[in-house]
Amino acid sequence: MFFDSHAHYDDERFDADRAALLDSFKQNGIDYVVNIGTNLETSQKCLDLCEKYDFVYAALGFYPEDVDGIGEDDILKLEKLCRENKKVVAIGEIGLDYHQNNTPKDTQMYWFERQLQLAEKLDLPVAIHMRDSTKDTLDILQKSSVKTGVLHCFSGSCETAEIALKMGFYISFSGTVTFKNAKNVAEAAKIVPDDRILIETDCPYLSPEPNRGKRNSSLNLKYTAAKLAELRGTTMEEIAYITSCNAKRMYNIK
Ligand code: NI
Repeated sequence: MFFDSHAHYDDERFDADRAALLDSFKQNGIDYVVNIGTNLETSQKCLDLCEKYDFVYAALGFYPEDVDGIGEDDILKLEKLCRENKKVVAIGEIGLDYHQNNTPKDTQMYWFERQLQLAEKLDLPVAIHMRDSTKDTLDILQKSSVKTGVLHCFSGSCETAEIALKMGFYISFSGTVTFKNAKNVAEAAKIVPDDRILIETDCPYLSPEPNRGKRNSSLNLKYTAAKLAELRGTTMEEIAYITSCNAKRMYNIK
């Protein structure tokens, strides 16, 4: 039923019950998960999960806060991991984060562009992290030759969504769409076409209402889907169906 397009099950907050949780997914209607890397170490953990679970796929990359101090040799290692593993379906999560701002902007931009080149070379879509950096992120994406990807955990305006849609990108909504103060996100969730919308948890972060503040997991996708259904005037089942079809198309999963 559900395709969780962005999750971090390698996170230590799942150490105590990871196997029991993931083993329960099939009976709870969670059909696919893309686990997202943030550096070489977590990318390797993504691959370990892919090997254990047939329904887990991986996106590998360096998160904007994890690019400080990396070098070209790290990009080569990343490329090797991607080439050697059939379950790598995207480069990500990559992008720009000016909110935390621990890493200089020009360093973030350099490695973002470098990883976009890698995605183009490997013909993979990209999973984009963009926080307080809309203009620079969209400018860099527009200049790059990547064909498609997803703006993950979308929190921007309708205008931003429309620019990304024109570029051939998908828009993914997380639990934030259920938050009462997220008016912008709710408006954007109404205008994304049926063939470009994705759903995600970004777990262990961003649990939707009514579980806000607790550890998140794919079992909470139903709350996010119900909210999207309400906003778009459809059913939760329909949201589950279209977001699964879209995620399979974007990540090129047969
Ligand atoms: Ni994430």
